[in-house]
Amino acid sequence: MNGSGNRPVRILLVCLGNICRSPMAEGILRHLANMENFPLEADSAGTADYHTGEAPDRRAVDACADSGIDISPLRARQLVHADFYCFDWILAMDRNNLRHVQGMAPLEHACRVGLFLDPGGRHPVEERSVPDPYYGRADAFHQCFQTLYSGARILLGQHLFS
Ligand code: 4NP
Repeated sequence: MNGSGNRPVRILLVCLGNICRSPMAEGILRHLANMENFPLEADSAGTADYHTGEAPDRRAVDACADSGIDISPLRARQLVHADFYCFDWILAMDRNNLRHVQGMAPLEHACRVGLFLDPGGRHPVEERSVPDPYYGRADAFHQCFQTLYSGARILLGQHLFS
């Protein structure tokens, strides 16, 4: 998938708080990669430090658990400069997250930056954002799970990283 031998593709998912969207996406990507024997390392981070050290939001844990994906051991952390040297891709959940990541990017780095739902930047950014479920209604987390799940399947099927 990345043309550099058998090294796994390293992907960092980024949202605002790292307790809802990005840990869900991390869990889903790991789960799908595992099932498909796909060499991938996933991690996640937040642009903000509000929830550093915390487990994912209970509603995110429950939405993933419904599909047999356990994200409860994950802990929130903030995006750091070193991430730009540790990952092949940093994929943001929405336009604000993407702007933040782009603004933090060092002048020289090999990592590619894009949106989780549109890594190649082919569509208007507002159409390809994953809505934040944190202040949403009860079903917002299940909706979010479905969006992330289909996005993750497309991502793994795209051979995007070759
Ligand atoms: P996330 O959701 O960015 O998907 O983790 C949020 C989590 C916490 C807050 C906002 C969004 N917050 O304001 O604390």
